[in-house]
Amino acid sequence: MLTDHDEEHVPAIDWGCLSRVLVVGNGKGGVGKTTIAANTGGLAAAGGARSLIVDLNGQGNVGRELGYRKGPLDDEGQALYEAVMNGTPLMPIRDVRPNLDIAVGGPHVGRLPAHLSLKYDGHSKRQALMLAVALQQVADNYDIIVIDSPPENPPLQQLSLAAARWLIVPVKSDSAAIEDGLGGIARQFALVRKKVNPFLELLGVVLFASGTSSTAIRRGVADDVERTIGKGTPMFESVVRHSEAVARQSRERGLLVHELEQAAANNPAFWQVRAGEVSSDQVVSQTSKSVAEDMARLTREVFTRLRQREGIRA
Ligand SMILES: Nc1ncnc2c1ncn2[C@@H]1O[C@H](COP(=O)(O)OP(=O)(O)O)[C@@H](O)[C@H]1O
Ligand SMILES: [Mg+2]
Repeated sequence: MLTDHDEEHVPAIDWGCLSRVLVVGNGKGGVGKTTIAANTGGLAAAGGARSLIVDLNGQGNVGRELGYRKGPLDDEGQALYEAVMNGTPLMPIRDVRPNLDIAVGGPHVGRLPAHLSLKYDGHSKRQALMLAVALQQVADNYDIIVIDSPPENPPLQQLSLAAARWLIVPVKSDSAAIEDGLGGIARQFALVRKKVNPFLELLGVVLFASGTSSTAIRRGVADDVERTIGKGTPMFESVVRHSEAVARQSRERGLLVHELEQAAANNPAFWQVRAGEVSSDQVVSQTSKSVAEDMARLTREVFTRLRQREGIRA
């Protein structure tokens, strides 16, 4: 893992080809990282962008959102583990949806930090850059790459930040959690920028599972965020609203939120439910439409902001 005092020879990275790599990160769990990574990556693919989601988690929850978990495609992170350990090209599973490939996460990924530090003992920068090395060999195949990063795991966070150009930070609206979670990711962000990836930038902070989209709440969260990671922190306008029904049904069915919304078109008629002909479990929540709109708005905002920021630098 990176520390503040190591100097060494590092692998060459073609940062240009990693310029469309986004990482979704926050030091805390349960703030929407996986949901946002899966849905923005999935919506980008549905909109025609060649997309890759990298699930850099020991739990492999991206597979719940997309429905491949524990199925024949689920290698529990073995392929991702091997590519990162050896610096060989990442071999994702192809076409999980049209235009959407996935580097599957799982328990093998959880073993990466310990095994990398054994194999590249004393070379902490090399350890941190191994995902970048594996990713840059396939990055040209994609218009957008989204990495879902784990909470409370600095070595895996460093691997993901060191392979990315942009960081998106989801937060929930309570201050204590904002300070804890942001403080953690902000430290890793600063260390990775200083030591291995000077191109890493914050794209924005997004409010997740909020009961309200009111300007006052957003303002309050923006203040908490600024207190933790500094002034000028760009909040996204889009907010993902709270819906437990949508969250549960999406994972139960292995459908992204816009797919759940489409499934709602096939809902049984209310009288069939009332007459006991079908169970209420088969009825897709109508809130899926609103949450799908939130996800679509956020995804559009991400792309608009990317183009703006890329334009400013050009
Ligand atoms: N719109 C939503 N409202 C409320 N809860 C949600 C929503 N979308 C997803 N969830 C649930 O919130 C929990 C945390 O989300 P997740 O994306 O797994 O967070 P993280 O990856 O940061 O741990 C999950 O159980 C998920 O199903
Ligand atoms: Mg997660």
